[in-house]
Amino acid sequence: MTVFPLADPKPLPAPASPLASGLDHLVFALERPQDAPVVDHLVDHAFGPGRFAKTAERLREGNRLRTDLSICAWEGDRLVGAVRVWPITIGGAPALFLGPFAVADSWRNRGLGRALIRRAGELADAAAEPVILLVGDAAYFQPLGYERVPGRRLTLPGPVDPARLLWRTGPGASLDGFAGAVRIAPGG
Ligand SMILES: CC(C)(COP(=O)(O)OP(=O)(O)OC[C@H]1O[C@@H](n2cnc3c(N)ncnc32)[C@H](O)[C@@H]1OP(=O)(O)O)[C@@H](O)C(=O)NCCC(=O)NCCS
Repeated sequence: MTVFPLADPKPLPAPASPLASGLDHLVFALERPQDAPVVDHLVDHAFGPGRFAKTAERLREGNRLRTDLSICAWEGDRLVGAVRVWPITIGGAPALFLGPFAVADSWRNRGLGRALIRRAGELADAAAEPVILLVGDAAYFQPLGYERVPGRRLTLPGPVDPARLLWRTGPGASLDGFAGAVRIAPGG
């Protein structure tokens, strides 16, 4: 899908680790308000209509996007990948929830998804965010620094396959205290 943003996206600073070859001409930029419809379109296409029924959606609906951490990947005017990040609390402690996360069909298996997840992690680290939680495939996210949440440690606002509940800590951060109810952050 081609979009015509109101203003050119402002590229993020260079990544800490090099991008996969072939991604060099993409622009990674923070999601802007005018990007929301095209991000929604990409995500709808990737996940289908069932996505709103998921427990993860309960942490997003009515929440406010962390626009300082949510990333779009642009090939010219075309959105080819996106990851969104939301404020939550875990047992009352501030944390982040990552998702949805999607890459355009024509760009899959070229390292773009991994690049988006790494960039989101770098931004979260720069913001001294201690924890990123997500629901996803461990085989994909474990090499990117995510690990399974120990069974029954967290309670989400709906059912989640425990094998798909993953989190990552920032440098020097501790998971002590991150237990209990997962909720949209106050003011979200
Ligand atoms: C998941 C997704 C974002 C990956 O994007 P991508 O740019 O193709 O990912 P990358 O190129 O960085 O990685 C591709 C590798 O991950 C693997 N992979 C892709 N999806 C996977 C999954 N769900 N579980 C395990 N491995 C997966 C691919 O087989 C490939 O493996 P290889 O490197 O050994 O060939 C993309 O497939 C997508 O948009 N899927 C639909 C939406 C979705 O499932 N989002 C994630 C929800 S948590």
